[in-house]
Order: sequence, then C-alpha cells, then structure tokens
Amino acid sequence: MNLAPPPLPSDDKRWKIVNGTMRRHGFARHALIETLHTVQSSFGFLDDVAIRFVAQSLHVPLSQAFGVATFYNHFSLKPAGKHTCTICLGTACYIKGADRLMAEAEKRLKIKAGHTTPDGNISLMTARCVGACGRAPVILEDSELLGLVEPGVMLEQLERWAAHD
Ligand code: FES
Repeated sequence: MNLAPPPLPSDDKRWKIVNGTMRRHGFARHALIETLHTVQSSFGFLDDVAIRFVAQSLHVPLSQAFGVATFYNHFSLKPAGKHTCTICLGTACYIKGADRLMAEAEKRLKIKAGHTTPDGNISLMTARCVGACGRAPVILEDSELLGLVEPGVMLEQLERWAAHD
C-alpha cells in the first residue's frame, strides 16, 4: 500500500524543510526522530499540528509520535519566542557568511542559537539547509524566507521585533 503523503499544514515555507527531511528518508518510519528535530529547529517547538502531520506522513501511530516528542527533553512542546529568526548554517550559506549573521544575531539578542530572549519575544534558531542555496546566505524571519541577506537587513528586522513588543 502506498498512501500519498498528507498536504502540508499551511503554506509556511518551513513545512517544505520538514517534508524534505522525510523525503530524504523515503517517508520511512525510522525518520521520526530526525523529522521531529527538523520541526524543532525550523519552528522552535513542536505543536499538535506538526506532530500529527509528521505521524501521518510517516505512517507512525500518533501516540508513538507524541510519545517521542514528550520523552526527549530536547523537544519543546510550546512556542518559544513570539518571533523566530532561523539562520541557515548549511554549507552554501556558511560559505556566504552565515556564521557572521549568527554572530551578529547572538550579539544583538544576547542569546546563543537555540535560545529565546528572556522576554519571550525572539527565538534564534538554526537550519541545515532550507533548499534555497542559490540565494545564500538565507534566513527565515518567522515564516518569511530571505536570501542574499546582509547582516544589516537582519538586524533591522530584529530591531523592529524588539521595538514592537
Ligand atoms: S545551505 Fe542554506 S539554503 Fe542550502
């Protein structure tokens, strides 16, 4: 039986990243943990929608997917920051200066990658490749993908988020 994968939960580009991880593993069940890691690193947390989508795509019982998501401390089941800045650290982006973007973001937000500002406003996340290498370096500002990113452009957005909350 070869069931078609379910549609992406929304047009948020981060679902394509999640789908890419599952596709790389042929939508096999053993991709569960890695896929949940991808959700976590892309969105900053796992929620009901994400867990259901992954479980359905990989034909894993929902209880098993929730079991894995709640068992490992690494996974966060709540939204982290109100906003998420995800910096792609894949090879193409790294070569084009993603490490500098990360250093600037960490300095501005005074947090390390994978963390959220103490006021809960902004989470700083990383991705390994978001499939837009031709536009490296790439970041996601919430769900919006930006390519050829200069540090100043990224910092302006971080300032806007910081000022409005
Ligand atoms: S390495 Fe960043 S988009 Fe591919």
